[in-house]
Amino acid sequence: MTITQRILVTGGAGYIGTHTCVELLNAGYHVTVMDNFCNSKPEALKRVERITGKVIHCMEADIRNRAAVAQALVQSKATAVIHFAGLKAVGESATAPLAYYDNNVVGTLRLLEAMDECGVNTLVFSSSATVYGNPERLPFQETHRLLPTNPYGRTKLHIECMLRDLQASRPQWRIAILRYFNPVGAHPSGLIGEDPRGVPNNLMPFLSQVAVGRRNHLNIFGRDYSTPDGTGIRDYIHVTDLAIGHLRALEHLDKTTSSHTAGQCLELNLGTGKGHSVLDLVQAFKLASGRPIPYQFKARRAGDIAEFYADPTLASQLLGWAPTMNLQQICEDSWRWQRMNPDGYRSA
Ligand code: NAD
Ligand code: UFG
Repeated sequence: MTITQRILVTGGAGYIGTHTCVELLNAGYHVTVMDNFCNSKPEALKRVERITGKVIHCMEADIRNRAAVAQALVQSKATAVIHFAGLKAVGESATAPLAYYDNNVVGTLRLLEAMDECGVNTLVFSSSATVYGNPERLPFQETHRLLPTNPYGRTKLHIECMLRDLQASRPQWRIAILRYFNPVGAHPSGLIGEDPRGVPNNLMPFLSQVAVGRRNHLNIFGRDYSTPDGTGIRDYIHVTDLAIGHLRALEHLDKTTSSHTAGQCLELNLGTGKGHSVLDLVQAFKLASGRPIPYQFKARRAGDIAEFYADPTLASQLLGWAPTMNLQQICEDSWRWQRMNPDGYRSA
């Protein structure tokens, strides 16, 4: 079967966006990216073209510009949108909440208005496990209470509410809300990967920069959690597995008729269902890189949760999707990206 679908990918130059563009192009979709490059570089899209041997159409624009979004939808003849564009740093969201509400919530509102105006009614949205907040029980199931503990998470929750209200009012819309757990790893080519600005907030990019010699040591936040080794536990999922989840969600929406949606969004966890501690990651990365990873224990990071991981059963049942890469493969791919691009895309 030839895929003729045309997809508009907002934030497609970013970490998860580039990996998803690779999978979309490889599957035969036509891809247009809209990105304002506030947290990415055009070089990332050139690398996607290099990996796939296919062309990406790119429009440098902000999703808050409704007219620009409408123009991109019309010009690209998009039939669906995958919406990654957003700000994502939890700490920064606490010091600059208005910037987060503006970019994430207002940005999504403008995007939805433009889609509605142009009659494009299929959307896959990047939500986050952070919408659950402190676990009442684990693993997190999609029915868990939604009570995020930081402004970033609340922007995602507001967007989810907007999408649920929109879906309820417009049976012709088909919306998937995907709640990612901890995306890590890189494309096996080593050409694309996570390229944070400044000091990384997240564990995997920090760990990689220690291994490559850009930082002296890793600070491990907390050794007194009630977990087997005292360090925090997360559900780390390879970014390519995550990207493929988006294709499966698109295919599922494509098959879904409005009578099946019954006014409801598809809401799914994308995680592996397995938890790994910070020390597990250090060990796996040491093995993958063959480099020492010096670390120091520090106080717990404010707002951190001891442990969380997904119940991915629903995604498996509805999409026939399951992650394929284990922690060791994840670390090997992260290391290849870091080793080949010690300064990220600036190394180019
Ligand atoms: P990223 O920062 O690498 O990518 C986001 C992209 O969106 C960047 O290219 C950025 O330039 C662009 N962008 C931001 N605001 C924009 C705007 N107003 N207009 C146009 N472009 C804009 O982040 P990522 O890790 O690829 O995350 C993608 C999505 O997944 C985000 O919505 C994020 O909140 C969500 N998410 C990420 C994680 C994670 O740990 N990486 C976890 C859960 C959810
Ligand atoms: N950690 C360290 N040292 C570091 C960074 C992290 O010990 O330098 C620890 C944390 O304390 C935590 C674990 O490593 O126990 C993972 O931390 P990350 O910052 O990598 O990830 P989080 O689970 O805190 O948050 C990430 C994203 C959120 C998203 C969430 C779930 O930053 O936006 O995953 O998707 F909501």
